[in-house]
Amino acid sequence: MNASRYEQMEYALCGRSGLKLPRISLGLWHNFGDVDDFETATALICTAFDKGVTHFDLANNYGPPPGSAEKNFGRILKQQLSGYRDELIISSKAGHLMWDGPYGDGSSRKNIMASINQSLQRTGLDYFDIFYSHRYDGVTPLEETAQALSDIVKQGKALYVGISKYPPLEAKRMYDLLRSTGTPCLISQYRYNMFERTIEKETLSLAASEGSGFIAFSPLAQGLLTNRYLNGIPEHSRATRNGFLKIEHITLQKVDIARKLNLLAVKRGQTLAQMALAWTLRDKRMTSVIVGASSVKQLNDNLESINNLSFTAEELECIEQILQEME
Ligand SMILES: NC(=O)c1ccc[n+]([C@@H]2O[C@H](COP(=O)([O-])OP(=O)(O)OC[C@H]3O[C@@H](n4cnc5c(N)ncnc54)[C@H](OP(=O)(O)O)[C@@H]3O)[C@@H](O)[C@H]2O)c1
Repeated sequence: MNASRYEQMEYALCGRSGLKLPRISLGLWHNFGDVDDFETATALICTAFDKGVTHFDLANNYGPPPGSAEKNFGRILKQQLSGYRDELIISSKAGHLMWDGPYGDGSSRKNIMASINQSLQRTGLDYFDIFYSHRYDGVTPLEETAQALSDIVKQGKALYVGISKYPPLEAKRMYDLLRSTGTPCLISQYRYNMFERTIEKETLSLAASEGSGFIAFSPLAQGLLTNRYLNGIPEHSRATRNGFLKIEHITLQKVDIARKLNLLAVKRGQTLAQMALAWTLRDKRMTSVIVGASSVKQLNDNLESINNLSFTAEELECIEQILQEME
């Protein structure tokens, strides 16, 4: 492993806690399942760690098939990074459909307790550093979810807890409830990128005022804010796999905006992906962004954004003008 890895990354304190996260984290939603190439997955984890990425973001359902990303990550950890556990922050989540029957989905105590046991078994870990409630399910009383999260920490199965995608009202209540159990919410995870800015209204400032750190997922809009789709839809790109990113999401308008943003990125001496990541990190309340990558080349491109995270007022204004063209 590269001895100077920690000089290549910036770290930020996560909310009102003593835990530092790398400004860029790696997500395993795609590209780490049993359908993916294990050698590439291994190279992605090792390259990330070698460049100071200490935080890896998982969930029980990542794959496909669900569970396989955790299993593969555990294998990679054992083969490549055994001996480095104390240099790593490993996150997982429970809350989306994972197994059959009434308990395999949602945010009940039953689901959270069973899920974390399954995730620990799949990864071979003794504990997760961060465990999230993946979503508000609209049914489970928030008291029940908060108590279950707090209890997994008391049982030593997780060190910290977080919430993901909770609407502002429910997020506020969770911050209060978790604090009252003695396990404050470490971190809040939401989608945020130049095309999806909902959290700017309320969610980000709420989290900050409650002492929670914040982490953005899909900062590259699943590839739309990179050079991936500037000239058509390449074979094997995420949009061709008919998952969450559909070909119909790659609208002419979005591609046109991405091309304009790309021109500005080139003027800054960056790729579009690098500028999009720097933009997402421009607010100091944003602890980290979780990027995805299907190749080491993409990952290296993304990690280089750390070398220029600052913007002039004119550049930010220019980005606003370009984004205003969106419906
Ligand atoms: N909490 C939640 O509910 C939730 C939801 C979604 C995601 N997440 C987390 O956030 C992580 C990141 O999400 P995401 O994968 O959607 O993030 P993303 O960074 O917006 O998109 C990643 C995809 O963009 C393309 N890409 C990345 N870098 C590129 C580059 N430099 N040049 C060209 N193309 C590039 C690749 O697609 P190709 O495959 O086309 O190469 C890559 O798989 C996930 O892994 C997961 O950990 C959490």
